[in-house]
Amino acid sequence: MGKRPIIIDTDPGQDDAMAILLALGSPELDVLGITCVAGNTRLPAVIRNARIICELANRPEVRIFAGCDRPMVRDLQTAEHVHGPTGLDGPQWDEPTMPVEEQHAVDWLVDTLLAAEEPITLCPIGPLTNIAMAMIREPLIIPKIKEVVSMGGGYFVGGNVTPAAEFNIYVDPHAADVVYRSGVPLVAMPLDVTHKALMTREWLADMGQIPGKLGHHIAAMLNYYQKFDIDRYDEYGGPVHDPATVAYLLRPELFSGKDCFVQIETQSEVTMGMTVVDYWGARGQDANCTWIHEVDADGFFALMLERISSLAA
Ligand code: BDR
Ligand code: CA
Repeated sequence: MGKRPIIIDTDPGQDDAMAILLALGSPELDVLGITCVAGNTRLPAVIRNARIICELANRPEVRIFAGCDRPMVRDLQTAEHVHGPTGLDGPQWDEPTMPVEEQHAVDWLVDTLLAAEEPITLCPIGPLTNIAMAMIREPLIIPKIKEVVSMGGGYFVGGNVTPAAEFNIYVDPHAADVVYRSGVPLVAMPLDVTHKALMTREWLADMGQIPGKLGHHIAAMLNYYQKFDIDRYDEYGGPVHDPATVAYLLRPELFSGKDCFVQIETQSEVTMGMTVVDYWGARGQDANCTWIHEVDADGFFALMLERISSLAA
């Protein structure tokens, strides 16, 4: 069987970095490109961080595209208080040298999907601005998308940026609304599942043992990144949200959830960006999303260790 073509839409972010590394370390996947979006930090820093990660993986040929620098309607809210001033704090990174493509990410998404002979999987792990803008510009791309497997939302555990909303959806709820209404096959990897897989000290030590800069820098960035969550939730370790999307593509049997009808709140300031999940089918509407809420955490962490280790030079 051929490789599965995917596009990662991202705002790195240490956990985005892990998703990119997991994808690049997995021979089943063909990463056609990485599209950058403002989110965890502003767009120029996001692009720098995506380049840093591809170079860390020894994959400077990966195509990186600059996308939207702000949400569709609301002002940009970033998360340097979690990810650090650069968005990717922890180790001392070398300045990246690999190029950025000239074409805008939204144009490239449209062109690539329209030209695709085989449907492409999208993995958005930041605000959904680029994906929604591409769908609005050219709705004919929707049938060319195999599925959207996205990190975002929270229902059973609530939000992480407000009591009601998770960061990626909160930053651009109007974009999320477009994607959730689009009819595209959608898998949501919300906080409900990512908070069931917390990094252990042993796993971080094993990641740190990956030879060379790769292991050292991963351990340094994850140790920095999990401080915020450990302080807030008083747990032994933090969640590493974004790679769950890529892990789902590789080993779907590690995850389970339920097909549900999900709506995005875009009106109320109090609950802005809330993912309203009709888990019990109270409204009798057709499901628009598979809402994941269970994970085999040991299997997930073992998969990351195995695949990312394979990137060591
Ligand atoms: C999501 O928000 C970002 O801070 C992380 O990178 C992740 O995509 C978690 O809410
Ligand atoms: Ca992210």
